[in-house]
Amino acid sequence: MLPPIAMEVWRMARDRNVDIDRLRVTLEREPALAGRVLGVACSPLYASAVPVTCLKDALMRVGQRALADIVFEVSATMEVFREPAYEPAMAALQKHSLAVAYIARDLCSMTGQSPGMAFTAGLLHDVGSVALLRVLASSERRHHRPAPAIDQVQLALKQLHAKTGGYLVRRWGLPDEIANAVAAHESLLVDGETCRLAATVSLADGLAAEVGLRGVDQYDVHTELTRNALQLPPEAMDLLRARAQVIARHLGGSAAAA
Ligand SMILES: [Fe+2]
Ligand SMILES: [Fe+2]
Repeated sequence: MLPPIAMEVWRMARDRNVDIDRLRVTLEREPALAGRVLGVACSPLYASAVPVTCLKDALMRVGQRALADIVFEVSATMEVFREPAYEPAMAALQKHSLAVAYIARDLCSMTGQSPGMAFTAGLLHDVGSVALLRVLASSERRHHRPAPAIDQVQLALKQLHAKTGGYLVRRWGLPDEIANAVAAHESLLVDGETCRLAATVSLADGLAAEVGLRGVDQYDVHTELTRNALQLPPEAMDLLRARAQVIARHLGGSAAAA
């Protein structure tokens, strides 16, 4: 489900000693991916005032760490959030997941956590729902039956998606910290302790829903509880809500009406 090149570039971009040209050459092996990485690097959420015209420029401008986020964003939107039987649900999940990734990354400037970890965990937090819907649709296709309506499977998604997502993320070889945060983005508990990365994702999850970008498996996030778990002052919420509105407008959510 996640293209191998995405993992390769993700790992390289996190290696401090990597040569930027080697990174560029690896990325260029997949022209469609490279083109879209350039597009995202030029988007208002990343670009500086100076236009970015080639991949090398983009790498220099956004930096290696942000590049890892962009590669993940692009490969996930190209490859992961795809299932013809559930197109509207996949589109909603994709926007929701991107919003959670962006908000979670912003939150790190207040909590001192790793923005890259938070971005990846945010982007993948509901990947369990994506996988369950894809498995369901393909199994029904094999039996020449239509896939069940999304509202018929929503309860099962709510109950299963976090653990399923955590399992997948671990299998893809991403760090345990990310897999744990994905698996615990509702309970917030890992081995009986509150997981700060899971709380970050959970708070971003709630804020994305507030600005109209809900997931298909959305539960009601207790934003006060997660804010306390992260020891954020109440006024931080105003800043985060304002940022969530900007992100939702960029992603085409309903922030204007929120
Ligand atoms: Fe979720
Ligand atoms: Fe979510």
